[in-house]
Amino acid sequence: MNKLLDCIDKHNKSYIPIWFMRQAGRYLPEFREIRKQNQDFIKLCLNERLSAEISLQPIRRFDLDAAIIFSDILMIPYGLGQKVEFKKNVGPILGDLNFNIILNSKPEDLIKKLTPVYEAIQRVKKNIKNKSLIGFVGAPWTILLYMLNKQSPKKNFNLNKIIKSKSLMRDLILKLEDTIFLHSKCQIEAGADIIQIFDSWAGLLPKDKLSEYCYIPTSKIVKNIKTLKTPTICFPKGLDKNYINFNKEVNPSCLSIDYDIDPKWAKEELEGIPLQGGLDPKILLENNDKIKKGVDKYIDTFKNYPYIFNLGHGVLPETKPETIEYLITLIRSRK
Ligand code: CP3
Repeated sequence: MNKLLDCIDKHNKSYIPIWFMRQAGRYLPEFREIRKQNQDFIKLCLNERLSAEISLQPIRRFDLDAAIIFSDILMIPYGLGQKVEFKKNVGPILGDLNFNIILNSKPEDLIKKLTPVYEAIQRVKKNIKNKSLIGFVGAPWTILLYMLNKQSPKKNFNLNKIIKSKSLMRDLILKLEDTIFLHSKCQIEAGADIIQIFDSWAGLLPKDKLSEYCYIPTSKIVKNIKTLKTPTICFPKGLDKNYINFNKEVNPSCLSIDYDIDPKWAKEELEGIPLQGGLDPKILLENNDKIKKGVDKYIDTFKNYPYIFNLGHGVLPETKPETIEYLITLIRSRK
């Protein structure tokens, strides 16, 4: 009945569940309509009625197998007391990082601030009987990076400039591990069936820093979420061949692959773990023939393998909703 859980927990291979990262978002006119009237993005994420409505928009339109709650990974820095703003055509801008405020913030204060997220989850849950509900968090490294860099990292990103004192970094990572788990737990208690952990900037870490900043902190969160009998999907974007080490060290329930990962390689090297995603979202801006070719590659490769259809990153704002419809028809016709 719950198609994603069947695939992840039971390794069911007879049905390919479908959902998309950023399925609730800017490519949908019905989202843009609501967004126009709600300029403050954080406030919009904290409006439980509208957050639930936006989460349900792609479900109504496309009858997908899972809803993902409309929120953002940067609700954690916000909940910890750092200023977070979303500027039009720029992206997120964070305020100065006050280590005292962050490290001394209390779990109950974060829960209080983020309660509308949990209420939105309860609302969505009531409206998606047989579908899966995905809660999500950012991984410690990606959150730490936004908190320190105060905006999306540029191409000339320099880790040594970002990392302040070693002991402060360690304290901050530990605080994030606790907070990210707490936020996951509250989402699960509100009705999330699965937690996806986004490590969008894992690929920026040099090899010798991967254990400290990516594998170890994420593995602790995955382990804690497992005690709540809830599966995790990890998306360590940009790790290339280190997906193998990530899988070994973190041991999530499912791995989401990015568009640089060869699906055949993933199937052979990742030890039978359920896999998700892969197709380059840019392909959805091409013609139907190219889209079909792209889709076939993934569906053919993952025939008789526990696989969830998704993209190798989020749906791009330029994507036409009709293309998403075409994509779904293609996949459903092959099951
Ligand atoms: O549909 C869904 O997937 C659920 C909602 C969701 C959003 N953000 C809403 C959103 C999810 C899962 C996220 C995750 C997120 N947020 C990530 C990880 C995934 C990834 O894309 O790598 C990251 C890095 C962020 C941080 C963030 N939020 C950025 C960099 C931006 C601006 C540019 C962008 O990517 O859209 C946002 C804003 C944001 N989050 C929007 C939405 C719908 C766009 C808001 C708008 O301008 O209307």
